Amino acid sequence: MLTRLLRQSEARVRYAAITGWGKCLPPAALTNHDLASFLDTSDEWIVSRTGIRERRISHVSLGDMAWVAAERALAAAGITGAQIELVVFGTCSHDDQVPNMASGVQARIGAERAAAMDVNTACTSFLHGLSTATALIRTGAVNSALVIGAELISPFMDWTDRNVAVLFGDGAAAVVLQATEREEGVLAEKLGCYGEAREILRVHGMGGAYANRGRVYGDTSWQFEGQEIFKRAVHGMSDASRCALEKLGLTSEQVDLVIPHQANLRIIESVAKHLRVPMERVFVNVHRYGNMSSATVPVALCEAIEEGRVRPGSLLLMPGFGGGLSYCAHVVRWGERVAPLGESKADLPPSDRSALQIVRDVMAVKGRAAAAAS
Ligand code: UT7
Repeated sequence: MLTRLLRQSEARVRYAAITGWGKCLPPAALTNHDLASFLDTSDEWIVSRTGIRERRISHVSLGDMAWVAAERALAAAGITGAQIELVVFGTCSHDDQVPNMASGVQARIGAERAAAMDVNTACTSFLHGLSTATALIRTGAVNSALVIGAELISPFMDWTDRNVAVLFGDGAAAVVLQATEREEGVLAEKLGCYGEAREILRVHGMGGAYANRGRVYGDTSWQFEGQEIFKRAVHGMSDASRCALEKLGLTSEQVDLVIPHQANLRIIESVAKHLRVPMERVFVNVHRYGNMSSATVPVALCEAIEEGRVRPGSLLLMPGFGGGLSYCAHVVRWGERVAPLGESKADLPPSDRSALQIVRDVMAVKGRAAAAAS
């Protein structure tokens, strides 16, 4: 017993450093003016209420976007898929439920030794996946992991509902985690869920519950109480941030950069105010992509690195919020390297369809399917 305790105390603490990162944004951009061409809305309303100017609409599957992001993250880490022992795919907009999304990426990157799991906590799926993978590395179950946050919301959008259609977009990003003895990666997090309020964000038509009622899968209607979600988002992200920082004896003043979930500029500004962090230390890209659900934080992380906002040894705070209503915040210590080790040639196939055309096609397919079902 004593020997075992001594061995345990001698055992070095393992961390899970983020060593690779990559994003994949589909090229077609849907502007607020495009939306105003078929919805009763305006650029002025959308920008003033959300900060969003445009969002991407994908011409490919969720799996395709995630694979490109994964290859880019592997190249940035300077490793191959064969060296990955775990793939965690965070999403709520699956191409398929069975087989899962993670196994598709595992096969395409050649991660033959890897376990593969999906995590769904809606917009916080990437961050919950980051916790899962970090924990499995820290216990020694695996030595490396690929964590993906990717969403293809556009086929599940109710494009007739201006309350939600203006808010969301498609995109993907991934990070590589590797075991290290250096104090890097996720150092503390707070995960939580306001389950009692889960009905204020429900997408009808995205699950088996609707199949027996003759509803076409993906033909959705959104139950969405924007103002209540807004309040919970601000409190959830602020409280989780304080809690995660307290676990480390830190305050928000010591945070170099906040990389929050990007749902609404006003939510981000309110969280920053609650945490007393000036907006100069908050990364924002919601104007370019809207709310990409689980892809927002990893895409923002990639862009913060590209723009030189993440420096060697930076202390990052990543608060998130989503359906469930899930919330969380992660404190991450960045390592020494802020440049990718390599670049991947992986890319999406070209497309000459505009975002508006893709959306109109989605609407037409849904209309025909609903008509055939009735
Ligand atoms: O990742 C988590 C996912 N969810 C979120 O993050 C959403 C959180 N909530 C929000 O971001 C905001 O609540 C919204 C952007 C959804 C709405 O902003 P708001 O300032 O809370 O607006 P509101 O709900 O008070 O709506 C004001 C008005 C309503 O009209 P009436 O009833 O006052 O006549 C809406 O019908 O704005 C109307 N409206 C629109 N008008 C033009 C709602 N959507 C639109 C639109 N264009 N797209």
